[in-house]
Amino acid sequence: MARLEHKTILIIGLGLIGGSLARGLRKRLANIRLLALDRDQSQLELACTEGVIEQGSCDAADVVPQADLIVIAVPPLSMEAVFKQIFMHLRPDAILTDVASVKGTVIGAALENLGHLARQFVPGHPIAGSEKSGFAAADGDLFENRKIILTPVTDTDPGAINLVHNLWRAVGGNVLGMSVERHDQVLAATSHLPHLLSYALVDVLIKSQQSEDIFRYAAGGFADFSRLASSDPTMWSDIFTANSSATIAVLDEYIVHLNWMRDALARHDRELLRESFATAKSIRDKFIRELTSNMQSETSNDKQQVDYHVDPGGRLDGQFRVPGDKSISHRAIIFGSLADGVTEVTGFLEGEDALNTLAAFREMGVTAIGPEQGNLRIYGVGMHGLQAPRDALYMGNSGTAMRLLTGLLAAQSFRSKLTGDESLSARPMKRIADPLALMGAIITTSEGDTPPIQIEGASLTGIDYQLPMASAQVKSCLLLAAMWAEGETVIRQPAICRDHTERMMQGFGYPITEDQQSGEIRITGGSKLNATAIDIPGDISSAAFFLVGATIAPGSQIRLEHVGINPTRTGIIELLRLMGADIQLHNVRDSGGEPVADLLVSYARLRGIDIPEHLIPLAIDEFPALFIAAACADGVTRLRGAEELRVKESDRLQAMAEGLQTLGVQVKLYPDGIDITGGPLRGGEINSQGDHRVAMSFAMAGLRSDGPIIIHDCANVATSFPGFVELARSAGLALASKLSSADVGP
Ligand code: S3P
Repeated sequence: MARLEHKTILIIGLGLIGGSLARGLRKRLANIRLLALDRDQSQLELACTEGVIEQGSCDAADVVPQADLIVIAVPPLSMEAVFKQIFMHLRPDAILTDVASVKGTVIGAALENLGHLARQFVPGHPIAGSEKSGFAAADGDLFENRKIILTPVTDTDPGAINLVHNLWRAVGGNVLGMSVERHDQVLAATSHLPHLLSYALVDVLIKSQQSEDIFRYAAGGFADFSRLASSDPTMWSDIFTANSSATIAVLDEYIVHLNWMRDALARHDRELLRESFATAKSIRDKFIRELTSNMQSETSNDKQQVDYHVDPGGRLDGQFRVPGDKSISHRAIIFGSLADGVTEVTGFLEGEDALNTLAAFREMGVTAIGPEQGNLRIYGVGMHGLQAPRDALYMGNSGTAMRLLTGLLAAQSFRSKLTGDESLSARPMKRIADPLALMGAIITTSEGDTPPIQIEGASLTGIDYQLPMASAQVKSCLLLAAMWAEGETVIRQPAICRDHTERMMQGFGYPITEDQQSGEIRITGGSKLNATAIDIPGDISSAAFFLVGATIAPGSQIRLEHVGINPTRTGIIELLRLMGADIQLHNVRDSGGEPVADLLVSYARLRGIDIPEHLIPLAIDEFPALFIAAACADGVTRLRGAEELRVKESDRLQAMAEGLQTLGVQVKLYPDGIDITGGPLRGGEINSQGDHRVAMSFAMAGLRSDGPIIIHDCANVATSFPGFVELARSAGLALASKLSSADVGP
């Protein structure tokens, strides 16, 4: 890990940002040297007198040759001149970064002027500032809890990225990664355009006939809106010049919207305006809550209430791809973060669960670029490179994330705490706490062996452990812990369950052996992981809703492309086929160590079956969808030995039984299963219990119901299947998603 201790850090430009960084570093780190280069001697003197910097100069030759790390904090269009000014004085191992809010032009200037040292330039942008300027206004806490965006390019040196990450972390920042293009587009919309509009409003009012009167009676709205127009004119003219095309693109959209609003005003269309304002208000309120919370995650604990409305009937058709596999996405982040080198991930699931896991690793010092359209680049920190999280790590709705991370955190040299949402906070953790304790882990669960989990880092020892249940999460938790444990760990499985962890460990070059017959796994601690490329297939658990939908709706035929068909996950295909479904596998191929295929599904008449127990772990997440198929089948479908379904995101036996009864289906519940007698479905109101898979399953039931189905509490669909509503609609389901009225306001 690249450390800041004993480094000489040079800040070029002691304005608000450079000065705040200097003050922040001085306040928090004792053993660094801080230097500054600025054209303004008085700023340097002030910083020296206050003891913020050790040395200041107006001459690059005085300070640049001393610097290990250089932070260039000047307006974007001055960057090129600074590169030229310092290049000849740079040490060959110097690492450089900047703070400009436009990245494309700055990177172009670095490539042109820094020669081979361009690899050691890590473009950065702290999302922090104020309308004030100059060192006098600098604030050492300015970056506390602020997002810091790094936009390294393919060639950028990973060690340099790690050092710059640690620089911003040291002053309290939360470091994210983005591609250069995305950064410039996002900033054009969220920062540059608001500044432009603020300057423009003040301009318009100045030019207006009664400007004096207007300013005299200006209310708080004007003060709020025009605050940005007090920002530094040189800086902002530089920014707009450097990012003109991205700003024009979003400005054009804004102009179209203003015209739309103008028309609505002219028509006195109060309802349309109210709806548009209500949506904007609820999104902005959510955003502000997230901004003020400590987590880096783009998601939040505190969600909007979403209901689904499904009109009855219809059929599915078309050819499409479901989002990436959730289990594999979590594991890609985990192994990519712990590996040596850079892991390129494609097909990554941009759902809330995986994003929370990503935020957790960012909090532990991992730099990752993206995800953008399923692409994620992870700069691994190695087996011993994670840093102590500064706050509790939020696992959202994800049992997988909580259980897997507990395993790896139990073996670190620092303390940590894992929390989750309401559903996760009620899920059992004894299943991991017990075997981890046998390994020597020091972890404390809360009342009833549920989260939050407190973890003290400890030295672990390998164990020989018989899993009490066929749980891939428990197995994976122990495999992760075993990578740091002394000696060998043997894990014995009662039945085969998903094996993504084992496959990925092998893909990253970590030795592990598995007896295919007995399912016994052996792993010894102390090896390392080497970065690799991971292409994540579509999630068969997400495909399952469409497999069922197309099977139960007469006239349907769909093709689902690039779906993972790992044999430890294909229970749903086997079960539906046993019931008479018509599912064909086309184009079976290997994709980065996982088998994938295109699935062709047509309507078929189904019959009830007795579900073979060995298929339960292979279809563990697909039972809610399968129960809808059972409700549409002739005869009875019987399931036993599935008590695990009671401890998923909801008690799925209970939640599904209640929903099916509402739709008029005859069911009988057992402690470990259910009997479902197929028959006609009527419409009704369903409570999904906040369970994403229950919600999506009942959405598909609309294809066979004779009345509308309303499903409450569907926001958690975003944990596993972003874009579900749009995809289902495009396939033919009459589904609409509505914010429940509680959120929309009067
Ligand atoms: C998962 C394992 C399964 C599954 C979950 C994902 C995994 O849980 O239900 O959605 O990624 O390892 P269990 O291990 O509790 O069966």
